[in-house]
Amino acid sequence: MQKHKPLIEKLFAKNYQLIDGTDDVFELDLALWEYEVLSKEELINRSAYLKLVDGIETAHFKTCNLQNLEEVHKNSSFRTKVFFLDGKYSTGYATHSLFPYRGKFHPQLIRALLNILEIKSGNVVLDPMAGSATVSVEANLLGIDSISVDLSPFCGLMGRVKTFALDLDLKTLQSITNAPKELLENLKQEKVPDYFINNKDDKKRSYYETVLLAFLDSMGFASRTSSSIDKLFPRVLERYISTIKYFQEARQELGLKIGKSKILQGSVLNLPIEDNSVDVIITSPPYSFAIDYLKNDQPQLEYLGYDLESLREGMIGLQGHGVENKLEIYFDKMNIALKEMQRVSKKNAPIIIIIGTNNIQTNGVILETKVIELAERQNLKFELELIKPIKGLQNTMKNESILFFTNLK
Ligand SMILES: C[S@@+](CC[C@H](N)C(=O)[O-])C[C@H]1O[C@@H](n2cnc3c(N)ncnc32)[C@H](O)[C@@H]1O
Repeated sequence: MQKHKPLIEKLFAKNYQLIDGTDDVFELDLALWEYEVLSKEELINRSAYLKLVDGIETAHFKTCNLQNLEEVHKNSSFRTKVFFLDGKYSTGYATHSLFPYRGKFHPQLIRALLNILEIKSGNVVLDPMAGSATVSVEANLLGIDSISVDLSPFCGLMGRVKTFALDLDLKTLQSITNAPKELLENLKQEKVPDYFINNKDDKKRSYYETVLLAFLDSMGFASRTSSSIDKLFPRVLERYISTIKYFQEARQELGLKIGKSKILQGSVLNLPIEDNSVDVIITSPPYSFAIDYLKNDQPQLEYLGYDLESLREGMIGLQGHGVENKLEIYFDKMNIALKEMQRVSKKNAPIIIIIGTNNIQTNGVILETKVIELAERQNLKFELELIKPIKGLQNTMKNESILFFTNLK
């Protein structure tokens, strides 16, 4: 049942309907904002929260329905299946579900933010702490070019696969994956990473990276359950291929034009990006030291041959001893990160930072208050805060803040 029905009927014209599950106040806020700034045609082509626009189904609604999630998740665990079916319109569509990175954005929210900021094809979108590249995928789905930067090489792999899979040749993927047992044996002996080092065929490289991500996904799965990688890998690979297949079919049917992406391994503290070159930044830093991203991805990073300790040094939120010292280093790094965001973005560019406070862990320090203070010192004018409740983690973290700034230069 649609919550807030009388309110929705008052806000939107007849024959306009919201996508099922658009229940939170921040979502209504964003849906109304989209409705006000986008033309009718734009609403049909790119709205995140509308299902019907003057009686016509939106592209987002259609894409999600064409993804055939029941079929994609036929071999997934009950919990995973329910998770993705529940998140059909918010998180489980396109290539977002390929690797469920911890702390990932809700893609539907990113789509709405790009819409209300009126970001169009020809603009460049940046996420300088990109994780699994949710921002890039959403921008590319709207035909907009993007740059993702993350210090973790494993995030680089996720980002490359998720954006590449938006626009690949399905037949090549199917031919490379038609012998999963053989692939698994090679992967277990680390032969596929070898392929990347010795092989010059760049065209096939991205297809093999897709297989490698499926392998690393099963590896994580196997370490959390009693199932073996031999059993899990064929199933995960099949899920990857069917996810990509259904998205490709939807894309063809709807004629979606995919934007280009650059996925870079680098630090937000020293961005490999020119001054005044990006039109908008949407990002979320680590929420102080709530998640140790390196420990989380340790098996995958070690398999790929990276030294965790050398990566740890540059990571935001992973240094210091005791709460006070950890927070001091965290804010020092955030200050440099904000300075870099100010440098690379154009005058008047919007910058959105999404951050949640776990004030139990931080001894009551509110991260967003301090981030606003640091940003304003860098001439990033604070404009607005939207509150997004975090579902399922109510005990430790209640809300995330969506902070809007403008770069005054
Ligand atoms: C909250 S997560 C971002 C998740 C992302 N929004 C997504 O949708 O997947 C924060 C990210 O910041 C990255 N990070 C931490 N320190 C960094 C640094 N110095 N430079 C770039 N990225 C960094 C972490 O690797 C992690 O992926």
